Amino acid sequence: MKSYTVDDFLGDARRIVREHGVRDGLESIRKNTERLLGQPDLLETYVNMDEYKGHTVIGQDPETDIYVIVHGGRKGGTSPPHDHGPCSVIYGNFTGHTLMRRWNRLDDGGSEGPASLKMAREYTVGAGEATAFAEGDIHSIDYPDGAFFVRVTVGDVENQKTRRFDLERGIVEIDDRAARPG
Ligand SMILES: [Fe+2]
Repeated sequence: MKSYTVDDFLGDARRIVREHGVRDGLESIRKNTERLLGQPDLLETYVNMDEYKGHTVIGQDPETDIYVIVHGGRKGGTSPPHDHGPCSVIYGNFTGHTLMRRWNRLDDGGSEGPASLKMAREYTVGAGEATAFAEGDIHSIDYPDGAFFVRVTVGDVENQKTRRFDLERGIVEIDDRAARPG
């Protein structure tokens, strides 16, 4: 199999975004994410496991501001439902799987206060598979110990104010990711 590097991926993404824009190009970038996930030496090539603490950026393109980030591989984890602010995001597993849930809002869509969500779809993202979330899409994740996954973000989502939902309390709040500890 011909190798597909992170640079190849970012170069292809640049061309896709130039020609089609992010929204219409997202499916093509998702497919290329699966190609990247199919590289057996991805972690060996890009991640220094001695210094790895659960996530690391392995590529960034200044023109499109796309980031390629490795996550997980240690203890499993979950997230509450959230969006990604103005960013489109692709999630794909390198090992293990992620239980993915997509959510729709049943209320008027504000950023703070009461919010009502209904699960739209629950599915498993297996190793080598990737799934895309356009701007505004809401999802939650649940992944087991040892599952490495890759996130491709169009924009620096960790410096955005995003929406986080608390299903038990039935509310939405702003998550200022840049102000998160650690
Ligand atoms: Fe997310």
